[in-house]
Amino acid sequence: MSSSRPVLFLFMRIVTSIPQMQRLAKRWQREGVSVGFVPTMGYLHRGHISLVERARKIAGSKGKVVVSIYVNPAQFGPNEDFSKYPRDLERDKKLCRTAKVDLLFVPSNDEMYPTSPEQPFSTFVVEETLSKTMEGESRPTHFRGVTTVVAKLLNIVGPNVAVFGAKDFQQATIIRRMVRDLNIPVRVVVAPTKREPDGLALSSRNKYLSPDERREANILWKSVQMARQMTHLSPNGTSAAKMETRVRRLIEAQPASRVDYVAFFDPESIHPVRVVKRGTQMALAVFIGRTRLIDNAAL
Ligand code: PAJ
Repeated sequence: MSSSRPVLFLFMRIVTSIPQMQRLAKRWQREGVSVGFVPTMGYLHRGHISLVERARKIAGSKGKVVVSIYVNPAQFGPNEDFSKYPRDLERDKKLCRTAKVDLLFVPSNDEMYPTSPEQPFSTFVVEETLSKTMEGESRPTHFRGVTTVVAKLLNIVGPNVAVFGAKDFQQATIIRRMVRDLNIPVRVVVAPTKREPDGLALSSRNKYLSPDERREANILWKSVQMARQMTHLSPNGTSAAKMETRVRRLIEAQPASRVDYVAFFDPESIHPVRVVKRGTQMALAVFIGRTRLIDNAAL
């Protein structure tokens, strides 16, 4: 008996080999196909999917949307969560199919970072200014890993547009700078942060939180709200030092929370400011128990 239900035809190509991805990318380039690219480390959530939707809008219905999933060892420090970073490729595939991704690129460690004793991987991309503060200060080798892997992925996928999230504001700024400095022929687009109803920014790492920690984790967003309120109440500005003290006090009154950093900076240059005004960017990193979360927003 044949079913009268329409068949949902959601074909998504899955490519794991770098040469195969490059051949396809070259073919698309020859054919003038517009490619939108969203690099991720997987364990996808609504935030990632919003980037996919943005990439689709820009690439158009005739264009291709490529998502990469690669938990990049080079951007994790020795005592960080690389081995326990959440992974669920089957679930990610389903989410990508539903979001009408055309191609999922899932490279292997062996191809990304060859380890053969004669020809080991030995070339890194380092941004030397913007990556010194905030995340770069707390995680000294992190951005070297990010710029290296993103440069590699852009070389492999050859997209017209690459979409990044404002959730990782400093990362997006560094990638923009790298793309400009190295003349990588891609347009970088930064899309807004998706949040839970209580304001917590979606993150793959939220999975680490216990129910109590999850309740406490909205302290990052509450801190932003408090800073916004202070900014709006003092149109001439408030000293960054005073704001930082207030934010630290708010956060450390929580039982499981510990501040890693709170920063107030110019959103273009990422230079710290002494006086916080409307339009100043705030970023913070907070340990909730053993889980380190980051967030940022314009004030
Ligand atoms: P990952 O943390 O998986 O994030 C992939 C992309 O999704 C990044 O551009 C990030 O800023 C964006 N994103 C994360 N949470 C978001 C949210 N709540 N709303 C909107 N966008 C969000 O960032 C990385 O991976 C890696 O460093 C990567 C760039 C892939 C290099 O390895």
